[in-house]
Amino acid sequence: MIRIAVANQKGGVGKTTTAINLATALAATGWKVLLVDLDPQGNASTGLGVGHDQRLRSSYELLTGECTLDEAVIATRVPRLDLIASTVDLSGAEIELVEYEERTHRLDKSLNGATPGRWDVCLIDCPPSLGLLTINALAAAQSILVPLQAEFFALEGLSQLLQTVERVRARFNPELTILGVALTMYDKRNNLSSQVADDVKACLGKTVFDTVIPRNVRLSEAPSHGIPALIYDIRCPGSEAYMALARELIARLPKPAVAA
Ligand SMILES: Nc1ncnc2c1ncn2[C@@H]1O[C@H](COP(=O)(O)OP(=O)(O)OP(=O)(O)O)[C@@H](O)[C@H]1O
Ligand SMILES: [Mg+2]
Repeated sequence: MIRIAVANQKGGVGKTTTAINLATALAATGWKVLLVDLDPQGNASTGLGVGHDQRLRSSYELLTGECTLDEAVIATRVPRLDLIASTVDLSGAEIELVEYEERTHRLDKSLNGATPGRWDVCLIDCPPSLGLLTINALAAAQSILVPLQAEFFALEGLSQLLQTVERVRARFNPELTILGVALTMYDKRNNLSSQVADDVKACLGKTVFDTVIPRNVRLSEAPSHGIPALIYDIRCPGSEAYMALARELIARLPKPAVAA
């Protein structure tokens, strides 16, 4: 199972929107997808229409070892897309996990328990911090996808994220790679957006995906209906962009993984 962490410690840059819609786009191409909501805010769970009453087991119980992966999985309305939901309990995990053995590898260990062949890819939606939850995601993942909002301070904080990736690589996950940086909320009528996109590309080169996610109101409306934008309105520019991003992402994955 390919594991990709969707991470950026900056808040509101489009991590969850990217995780939900990429997961849906990958499921639409026939992949069996697991989305892990690792953010106490639970936006990915809500955005997929999984209500609080359905979240009997969550990523919190998974991390603390109170349940297995199979026990925590919830099928979503999207065919081939399963979810590990999140609850507010997860907000205590950053502190509680400090007491646990191998606290940085709790998610990795749980995902290792997946039945072979059940899922092709796992996307992990991270919270806006570089704490223990994000570290668990980076320790469990083979690669990281970084959504970057096309705004003036886009690159600020990125070096901190890259340093964290380096630390995780050096200490416990030498295979961790940067799959790519996806520019989000791009406004083509705004000169600043294109200027920022040029700066980001000049700074990060080929790491930046060619596909840019436009600012699109359909993407922000869809979560309130509990469905991915890709299902809410498949033809809107946001949905089309996420389909294109999924194609680009698949092309970047190591070949044997794609065949799996
Ligand atoms: N391309 C877009 N166009 C318009 N609105 C967007 C777009 N991407 C995200 N949004 C909206 O911006 C807000 C923040 O997006 P999102 O929740 O995906 O970011 P996040 O990085 O996961 O936030 P957090 O750090 O709080 O977890 C949401 O209201 C979302 O609906
Ligand atoms: Mg989020």
